[in-house]
Amino acid sequence: MTAVHPLHSICPYFAMFPPGFVERYVLAFTEPGDVVFDPFSGRGTTVFESLLLNRRAYGLDINPVAACVSGAKADPPTVAALLRRIAQLREQFSDMGVAQVPNTEFFEACFAPSTLKQIVFLRNSLNWTSSKVDRFIAAMALGCLHGESHKSLNCFSNRMPRTISTKPDYSVRWWAANGYEAPVRDVFDILAAQVKFRFARGVPSISGEARLGDVRNATAMFRKLQGAVQLVVTSPPYLDTTDYGEDQWLRLWFLGGAERPKGRIFADARHGTSQAYWAFLTAAWTGIAGLLAPNCTIVIRIGGMSFAPADLEEGVYTSLRNGLGCNSLEIVQPLNVSEIRNRQTNVFRPGTKGKRVEYDFVLRAA
Ligand SMILES: C[S@@+](CC[C@H](N)C(=O)[O-])C[C@H]1O[C@@H](n2cnc3c(N)ncnc32)[C@H](O)[C@@H]1O
Repeated sequence: MTAVHPLHSICPYFAMFPPGFVERYVLAFTEPGDVVFDPFSGRGTTVFESLLLNRRAYGLDINPVAACVSGAKADPPTVAALLRRIAQLREQFSDMGVAQVPNTEFFEACFAPSTLKQIVFLRNSLNWTSSKVDRFIAAMALGCLHGESHKSLNCFSNRMPRTISTKPDYSVRWWAANGYEAPVRDVFDILAAQVKFRFARGVPSISGEARLGDVRNATAMFRKLQGAVQLVVTSPPYLDTTDYGEDQWLRLWFLGGAERPKGRIFADARHGTSQAYWAFLTAAWTGIAGLLAPNCTIVIRIGGMSFAPADLEEGVYTSLRNGLGCNSLEIVQPLNVSEIRNRQTNVFRPGTKGKRVEYDFVLRAA
């Protein structure tokens, strides 16, 4: 087995599936040059792994963190362009001239003063939505923004999980109770070192595209792909899991968002009832229907504890039939059920009890 490409892990994400999961289906159901699509792209595992395997790959996600990270991997700039831009940013940075440095208790305890100024300077300077070089730097900065800084010198913040940003008041209390202080880090040095590490194994020979958007508009957003997608490998938001807006609030702040978490930033990230959830998924499949080739294989990883297995199965089949407008579905592979072990990428809130199960569907519209 070959080692995982270092670009996969630029920034962690909830419910990210492992590259091997994507590889298995890409090799089984597509040829080089075929089109693979992920309408809930998250950190971009489907897109990047497909590109590594010489497939054309596209994705979209409603969360700016996901769009930034998956977009960066889908179309990386050159090492030379990145190092040039980091050197230019370092040159332009002046301790005195940084505007809008937050002065809340949280930011003062989370980052050393000199590190915070550098972070805010990057936040103010990077045009991550319009420049692919800046988007890649922003994606690397998102991955370094917070984490277990006592274990990693690449991490900008006081101690925090790398996967989620803890809430401000809780974090401040916890740091104070334990006497933890923010490390002094040079953000530009770390980013330049990241470039060398992340590109050590090269990049795919073709580039793809991952955009910010709502799955329900996918066909309109990717007109050039109409009828061309041979494989979808995707994982929709689970009914009973995390609120992306709240749990990634610090990364969202870095991309231009608010200084404090705002729950339910994304209307679709969590659905209160199973009825609303299945209505959303039906609309999601309608949103991608126009992109799919007639023989397109659809791989869906989905999970949660709020559904009895039979209800989950029925919900997926009914939403697909209604959303895609087909009479029946071909079950390409029998349903695979796996128990989620505790892992860093745990999709459930800490402390959630009960059996955590994920289901893998492999289907075709018939
Ligand atoms: C389970 S995660 C996908 C994780 C991904 N498979 C990975 O490996 O990183 C579900 C994703 O759906 C996105 N999402 C939720 N509602 C959406 C919508 N209406 N349109 C597009 N993406 C949406 C969330 O932002 C989240 O990134």
